[in-house]
Amino acid sequence: MKSVYTICYFSKASEDLSEEEIQEIFDHTNERNNERGVRGILLHSFGNFFQVLEGDEAYLTSLYDTKIKHDTRHHSVFEVINKESPKSLFEEYNSRFQTIENREQLDEIKAYLKVHSIQSTTSDKLSRLLRSFIILD
Ligand SMILES: Cc1cc2nc3c(=O)[nH]c(=O)nc-3n(C[C@H](O)[C@H](O)[C@H](O)COP(=O)(O)O)c2cc1C
Repeated sequence: MKSVYTICYFSKASEDLSEEEIQEIFDHTNERNNERGVRGILLHSFGNFFQVLEGDEAYLTSLYDTKIKHDTRHHSVFEVINKESPKSLFEEYNSRFQTIENREQLDEIKAYLKVHSIQSTTSDKLSRLLRSFIILD
């Protein structure tokens, strides 16, 4: 199977970010990532973002280094994964990028990562990170 590039980080949303602005980030991210074949998830919870991006290395590193990291709608970006992985994690879950916007979607992704955490170190790490992120709320 073709290897994929994975980037994962936590960040803090800007203090004055409204619900509408968060929705705008979600909508734009969903649209652009699905146009460009980027997979993964984006969550917002109590002033924090958690994102996993999976796809082509050149596209992802450029998106992350030149746009996402410098976006003033969030700060204190704390990177936890930035590397090539031998196996796609999200391919089997959902071929599309997904913003997690309700409890059902959250429960689904948690259950999926739990099952797959036995098979890959990346999904094990993501599963633990996601759990720690959810505990924040
Ligand atoms: C928390 C957060 C996550 C984002 N994730 C993505 C993303 O995955 N893909 C994307 O295209 N833009 C994302 N953005 C938006 C980019 O930072 C930037 O605004 C956008 O890429 C500019 O789009 P354009 O120049 O392609 O029109 C994100 C922004 C924030 C605040």
